[in-house]
Amino acid sequence: MADLFLSPVLVVIVDNRALRIWLSKLKEVDYEAETLLLLFSVDSLPNVKYADKVKEILHALEMAADEGLRFNLNKGNIVHRESDGRLETSSFFLDREVFGREREKVEIVKLLLSSETTTIGGEAQCIPIVGMGGLGKTTLAQLAYNDHEVRRHFDFQVWVFVSDQFDVKNIMRTVIHSLSKDNSHYPTLDTLYLEVRGVLQNKRYLIVLDDVWTENPDDWDKLRPLFTAGIDGSKMLITARSKKVALLANSPNSMYCLKELSKDACWSLFVQRAFPQGDKENHPDLLPIGEQIVSKCGGVALAIKALGSLLKPKRSVREWEIIRDSELWNLDESEN
Ligand SMILES: Nc1ncnc2c1ncn2[C@@H]1O[C@H](COP(=O)(O)OP(=O)(O)O)[C@@H](O)[C@H]1O
Ligand SMILES: [Mg+2]
Repeated sequence: MADLFLSPVLVVIVDNRALRIWLSKLKEVDYEAETLLLLFSVDSLPNVKYADKVKEILHALEMAADEGLRFNLNKGNIVHRESDGRLETSSFFLDREVFGREREKVEIVKLLLSSETTTIGGEAQCIPIVGMGGLGKTTLAQLAYNDHEVRRHFDFQVWVFVSDQFDVKNIMRTVIHSLSKDNSHYPTLDTLYLEVRGVLQNKRYLIVLDDVWTENPDDWDKLRPLFTAGIDGSKMLITARSKKVALLANSPNSMYCLKELSKDACWSLFVQRAFPQGDKENHPDLLPIGEQIVSKCGGVALAIKALGSLLKPKRSVREWEIIRDSELWNLDESEN
């Protein structure tokens, strides 16, 4: 059972709320069981005195196992939960530090400040940031969005969290509401188009569409009024995993393929998560294992962050080695 919690794959991809609550309950039982095992191993007396505790933990594990049946946890199921219940993003940084990405931020800001439009009839230029999940696309978009030069440059900025629930009406409503505080429902696309054109007219705007999944050309066609409403220099910044999305957005030349996080930034992020009290010097035996774990994360910020947090309460070399040597790393590779 312990292996289940130690699974980096699980930690990274579990997005389902009920499943997460169940896992955290299970984790508590697991820690108790681990502590008990530790006591067994150091106690030379007969272990009868622990009988009640063993029974209690067994009972808790059985209950948890029963409860867990409803999640139908098998490999395929877990991996496909990736797109469920995605956490909404916003343009704000919530008290967190960003490591590295200085060069990338400069490059994106430069693209945003350029006066270029696409070749097609003066449409707002679309800049898609593309890369695998957890790499830091949203974070980079937030960095650029909050840059003071960018803030000065645009008359109007709006952040729209799109996710796999692509809903063109919602996107339009968010834009209208952000600019005019108008909360009207606008039942038809036609009325929405008219209103969106009205609010964006004569404005140099930046619209961020974060986490776009749709590869349906019809969806993109419906979004066009957002591209054509403003004045020169207006931009659409899009984050997406798929390059197809960038192609559909008619911007193959301005596609920004985000690379993995630098080695130094990865290490800083990991240390921040695994040693939040700044006590890494007290654990010289864990550091080399931590470095090996980080190098297996392939520069994916989300994986590093999740593993750092997972290792935070663990302070024995054995526990860190179990994570480093977990077979789930291989699974991750074969599943990409
Ligand atoms: N450079 C970074 N420094 C610190 N944390 C980061 C960095 N890049 C990403 N993260 C964190 O990693 C997680 C995934 O990043 P995110 O930007 O949401 O990735 P993506 O949008 O590519 O899926 C987030 O929790 C984010 O806070
Ligand atoms: Mg994102």
